[in-house]
Amino acid sequence: DEVSLQGFDHYMLKEIYEQPEALRNAMRGRLDEENATAVFGGLNLTPQQLRSVERIILTGCGTSWHSALVGEYLIEELARIPVSVEYASELRYRNPPIENNTLVFGITQSGETADTLAALRETKRKGHRTLAICNVVGSSIAQAADGGVYLHAGPEIGVASTKAYTSQCCILTMLALYFGRLRHLSYEGGQRIIQELYGIPGAVQEALNCNERVKEVANKYQDATNVLYLGRQYNFPTALEGALKLKEISYIHAEGYPAAEMKHGPIALVDTKTPSVFIVPQGSTYDKVMANMEEVKARGGPIIAVATKEDPMVDAVADDVIRIPDVPSILQPIVSVVPLQLLSYHFALLRGCDVDKPRNLAKSVTVE
Ligand code: G6P
Repeated sequence: DEVSLQGFDHYMLKEIYEQPEALRNAMRGRLDEENATAVFGGLNLTPQQLRSVERIILTGCGTSWHSALVGEYLIEELARIPVSVEYASELRYRNPPIENNTLVFGITQSGETADTLAALRETKRKGHRTLAICNVVGSSIAQAADGGVYLHAGPEIGVASTKAYTSQCCILTMLALYFGRLRHLSYEGGQRIIQELYGIPGAVQEALNCNERVKEVANKYQDATNVLYLGRQYNFPTALEGALKLKEISYIHAEGYPAAEMKHGPIALVDTKTPSVFIVPQGSTYDKVMANMEEVKARGGPIIAVATKEDPMVDAVADDVIRIPDVPSILQPIVSVVPLQLLSYHFALLRGCDVDKPRNLAKSVTVE
């Protein structure tokens, strides 16, 4: 392989640790402090065209679909543009009404996923502007789209996506900032987000310090056959992504849910052998998620909590706590997923799985 492991045991672990650098690369040259906005060289649309966008569709597959969900929350909150998230494999064969002035983003690490390519071609054929958020330069999707944004995350070799995901979330934050600043977002609001973004590579670096703790947790629960991942708002996509990572490389069944929705089904799975991973950093729904945690505890379910390092309350409820730095809600997806990537990695190692090449999966799915 041309890309060396540089002392890491697996590409996945190396790529998890490359995230601070990947995030710096995603942001390099794209934050404009003077105008309190982001700049993108390759959108190929005028500010006037971008200002007239009335709807955004975000489409992708797998982990990239999860970053689309994060993007939905971000763009709606910061730019007040309605967003729809679509599985590319569904969008390509559906015929949803799409209003004029809709912008379609295909989100993809490889730029070669067949369904994402087909969904973009189909929407483009119907006259909509298409853009790619993509890692691989010159890939099929990068070429098929009218324009786009590259992640600059460097090659991702591990089948389970890690640094591409956090880079996608970072790009979507900057796009939300950009669209926000073309519309309602104030100068001060834009400045604040820029300063917060600057802090993110350091926060991810700090989150990586939880690795030893995560290893202990994986060791304790390594015989689990089911794991629930629960979070709300910006951490709901994180719950989905944590569950996907575990399924992909350790073959343990996992489900991600919005924490309150668990009452409508998944809570029936809770027993003393089924751990629940709660993503519960500080934020507007903190108390609500803590209440959801109590409900699981009352039913005898073991609880692993991903919480901020200053949180004094969580130890009273959770059996095991993994600490991450506190960051603003809109940036939590980038930080809170880090321990979940590591958790799946250690589970997989303990169970003797091939971390970088899990069975039945491909790095890029170029056939339907
Ligand atoms: C495959 C990979 C996933 C990836 C998905 C979408 O399933 O194993 O890690 O998230 O494809 O790939 P893309 O390259 O379009 O992001």
